[in-house]
Amino acid sequence: MEVLPLLLACSLLFTIATPIRDIADACTSQINGFAHLNSSGVHLTLHHPQSPCSPAPLPFNLPFSAVVTHDEARVAHLASRLASNDDASSRRPTSSLPLLHGGHRKNKASVAASLASSVPLTPGASVGVGNYVTRLGLGTPATSYVMVVDTGSSLTWLQCSPCSVSCHRQAGPVFDPRASGTYAAVQCGSSECGELQTATLNPSACSRSNVCIYQASYGDSSYSVGYLSKDTVSFGSGYFPDFYYGCGQDNEGLFGRSAGLIGLAKNKLSLFYQLAPSLGYAFSYCLPTSSAAAGYLSIGSYNPGQYSYTPMASSDLDASLYFISLSGMSVAGSPLAVSPSEYGSLPTIIDSGTVITRLPANVYTALSRAVAAAMAGAPRAPTYSILDTCFQGTAAGLRVPAVDMTFAGGATLRLAPRNVLVDVDDSTTCLAFAPTGGTAIIGNTQQQTFSVVYDVAQSRIGFAAGGCS
Ligand SMILES: *[C@@H]1O[C@H](CO)[C@@H](O)[C@H](O)[C@H]1NC(C)=O
Repeated sequence: MEVLPLLLACSLLFTIATPIRDIADACTSQINGFAHLNSSGVHLTLHHPQSPCSPAPLPFNLPFSAVVTHDEARVAHLASRLASNDDASSRRPTSSLPLLHGGHRKNKASVAASLASSVPLTPGASVGVGNYVTRLGLGTPATSYVMVVDTGSSLTWLQCSPCSVSCHRQAGPVFDPRASGTYAAVQCGSSECGELQTATLNPSACSRSNVCIYQASYGDSSYSVGYLSKDTVSFGSGYFPDFYYGCGQDNEGLFGRSAGLIGLAKNKLSLFYQLAPSLGYAFSYCLPTSSAAAGYLSIGSYNPGQYSYTPMASSDLDASLYFISLSGMSVAGSPLAVSPSEYGSLPTIIDSGTVITRLPANVYTALSRAVAAAMAGAPRAPTYSILDTCFQGTAAGLRVPAVDMTFAGGATLRLAPRNVLVDVDDSTTCLAFAPTGGTAIIGNTQQQTFSVVYDVAQSRIGFAAGGCS
């Protein structure tokens, strides 16, 4: 429970054990340049959730098994969204919630209990373990908040004073709407309030003072409930007024010490879609490895020449997620021994917050066999959780075959050893893929260090090697 003393102890150990000045210098330059708006769009610094430069790093000794457990919850949720989307849209909105009206503080336990028992929350993706972290400026005067970035959800929200029910511990002060000259709560009849069902897959509700209430839920029993609000969002000295987001009064289970979440999915309420009319309907990112290096998130125009593209596939299953079509894989130049039709046998999404790529079972089995054959000289290690192709050693220390993932239209991710294997502890590394029968997902271990552009305007996704380290 006492995470803070543990973190302090860890950071002290860390201070003694590492060339602290180098890391501190690297981190300072990242923090100074964290956000700006220029003629090409908005540019933010992205941190790996366990980077020493992250403004809210996960404990560096978090066992990888915890990461996998959260990853499973996220994947189960994404799959259930695709399976049951029809049910969600037929759910009837509740007329009011027992918890939030007029800012009165209610008994915590009874509110939490009534929330758990009476609100039909659709579980969402588990957030905050696999998700990359950035800072977002909000309010007037602007203050910046540590936020996780998520292509798999839409609504942006953050913990909000007075935390009528509950806020978890976060890095830096909690957002206080009363301290912002540009804050406004959003009324129940607004079109943005009407959009919440699609954005969160949960019905909205209405407070006694006619303020719209959102409910964002993320599996693993994590959720945020609060007032739909608008305020000025800022990026360095650039800013946009009337940005719609959730002011969270009951926030449970967001892992790490982030203040909230930035949604980048294809929905009118996502940060991306709210900025796109000004900046253009595209965003790009590079997800760094867990080193001190930073990556980036940019919204707006990008350099089209550097990418190879695959069409963004559309799916009736969920209009807000990013679907693509895997068309082939090879190991050390040899195509896998599966029929080409197997690659597209499941709907496939690309996701920033899933750590381990999920493949159709037949494709996974062929990949596992081919990698094991190519690494026949490396001693095997026991299965680790959902990862069943493990070796003694580390990704950097073993001879790992090149693995290519090819998408419709020919765009290819040529994976480096660090994109193929994930070190689960100091002496064990495992193939960072797993089989699924539900939804195939291109996860973030495979995307690391590539620039990835989500070009909704031209309905394509592009990859380019060497975007960050
Ligand atoms: C805007 O900033 C980004 C990120 O710092 C930079 O790469 C880009 O060249 C800048 N664009 C212009 C037009 O100045």
